[in-house]
Amino acid sequence: MHMADETQSKNARIILFTSCKGGVGKSTVCANLAMSVALSGKDVLVIDCDFGSRCLDIVAGFSDRAVYDISDAVVGRVPPEKVVVKDNRCEHLSFIAAPYSVDAQMNLFLFKRTIAAYATSGRYDYIFIDTPGGAGDPLLYASAVADTAYIITSSTKVSVRAADKTASFLYDKGVKRLRLIINKVTGTSAKKAKDELISVIDGAAVKLIGAVPYDPELIRAGDEGKLTDELYSTNLTRAFDNIARRTEGEQVPLFYKIRRLKRLK
Ligand SMILES: Nc1ncnc2c1ncn2[C@@H]1O[C@H](COP(=O)(O)OP(=O)(O)OP(=O)(O)O)[C@@H](O)[C@H]1O
Ligand SMILES: [Mg+2]
Repeated sequence: MHMADETQSKNARIILFTSCKGGVGKSTVCANLAMSVALSGKDVLVIDCDFGSRCLDIVAGFSDRAVYDISDAVVGRVPPEKVVVKDNRCEHLSFIAAPYSVDAQMNLFLFKRTIAAYATSGRYDYIFIDTPGGAGDPLLYASAVADTAYIITSSTKVSVRAADKTASFLYDKGVKRLRLIINKVTGTSAKKAKDELISVIDGAAVKLIGAVPYDPELIRAGDEGKLTDELYSTNLTRAFDNIARRTEGEQVPLFYKIRRLKRLK
């Protein structure tokens, strides 16, 4: 437990998760990284800002308990704390679901005010915002409140270049701390994958913060609402753990303790 005065003084860091393409793993990376950071003892609130097609509640395993959503808090139907769902595996992790459909009463001013209330409540070290990607309202809203953006990409040159474009968009919107996460990495060895990634990101303007191996276990886990605390693959849990540690400012090698990577058939 935190001491009362310490609780008062902590302001949450807000990190948004985005990508220029759908299905590259924003929600998966966001939810699993949140669990890894929470397991280290930091308080993390994950907000699904995929207005209109919520999915984080399934990936993170809280769909049966998500009665309210972020729009209820933003437009004032429900007090902000009431829309928060506490994770039942880790006491440091909480979630807020996205609405099933776009709420016409939502606006940027109210959204900013609501997120600021969570960020300054003293309850959270981190707020993670999952966006549906693209340059629509959710990304505009999230970029108005976030200090950092994690851009998720696959390891192809084309998607890394597109990630660069997203990065300039965010930079223009005032999000100055931009980091790249390369997801679904395949290869015969961590060393080979590392060499490949280094050549891919060589021209990219965004600093790399981590890489996540391709592993079908993550697809199954996403369907069952299981996160890093329940995964069998140590390569996956270590990958998220490494990014969690770098998020907290620790220096950890890119593929620290990751041994083998899958090869796509
Ligand atoms: N490292 C990985 N290895 C294997 N499968 C993965 C990995 N990361 C994500 N996936 C799978 O890829 C699919 C898309 O992931 P996810 O829904 O997280 O992407 P997204 O970028 O949030 O998509 P959207 O744009 O629809 O929001 C899911 O089936 C997920 O389980
Ligand atoms: Mg998603």
